[in-house]
Amino acid sequence: MLSPMGANASRAAGLWWLMFWIGVVVWVLVTAATLYALVRRRRDRHDPLTARRWENAPLVWGGIVLPSVVLVLLTGVSIDAMRHRDHPDASQATVVQVIGHQWWWEVRYPERDVVTANEVHVPAGRPVRLELTTADVIHSFWVPALAGKIDLVPGRSNTLSINTDRPGVYEGRCAEFCGLQHAKMRFRVVVEPESSFQDWLAAQGTSAAEPADDLAARGRQVFLSASCVYCHTIRGTAAVGSVGPDLTHLASRDTLAAGIMPNTKGHLGGWIVDPQQVKPGARMPSSDLPPDDLQALLAYLGSLA
Ligand code: CUA
Repeated sequence: MLSPMGANASRAAGLWWLMFWIGVVVWVLVTAATLYALVRRRRDRHDPLTARRWENAPLVWGGIVLPSVVLVLLTGVSIDAMRHRDHPDASQATVVQVIGHQWWWEVRYPERDVVTANEVHVPAGRPVRLELTTADVIHSFWVPALAGKIDLVPGRSNTLSINTDRPGVYEGRCAEFCGLQHAKMRFRVVVEPESSFQDWLAAQGTSAAEPADDLAARGRQVFLSASCVYCHTIRGTAAVGSVGPDLTHLASRDTLAAGIMPNTKGHLGGWIVDPQQVKPGARMPSSDLPPDDLQALLAYLGSLA
């Protein structure tokens, strides 16, 4: 958070340092006043009338006027930072919808009919407007290097703007306790040059690849005849579930299960067989697929790039 990589993150970091230094000054003043009072009390022990003269003025200035001025100033600066956080600088901003789920992130690009999960791709050097809602409880979207936190609240849509010209992969996480696996509700923001972003968007907008060999073809059959279809979508097939993440381009993603493990065949296999082992309470049920079916399914899912 203190190594900001975008305009809004810089504002948040600036605000943090401002509050920090005001805090330092207040601490020094209060400590000095306390020491002064201790010394005086010792000296004035036999003359209580001397002390009374001092009673009111410091109380009014130090206890009412100064805190009021500082708090009003900080409120003003905070409101200004929040205004920038909530509203992108330009109206031509890319719109990305983020929907919180227990415990993963659905990511949609409404202009291009793209749906993915746990990975937010954005173009570098262009403002991005995130529209955040939730499917269940309150979550909070936080990418410390790029912007401040914002809550995802049931029944309303909040907005957050991201604007950075530094390509890179930025870690994000849920910052509001949302149940058993709150700690494993992570995601990544991939900031990439405009042309790579457009390529990515175009690729994500396509239907799932046809199985390239017999094993993958059998894997698709396994997927479609197992209970996977009740929760997951693979565009171009009969699977249109909306409970879990869209898997149309699963193999193009870097991580599994909301950013908690790398997207490898081994991890995916372990996840499918027993998700409760990795993420107790997750809505994905365990499966008892025969080993051959599991291998075919992994071959198929691994081909969905
Ligand atoms: Cu979602 Cu914590």
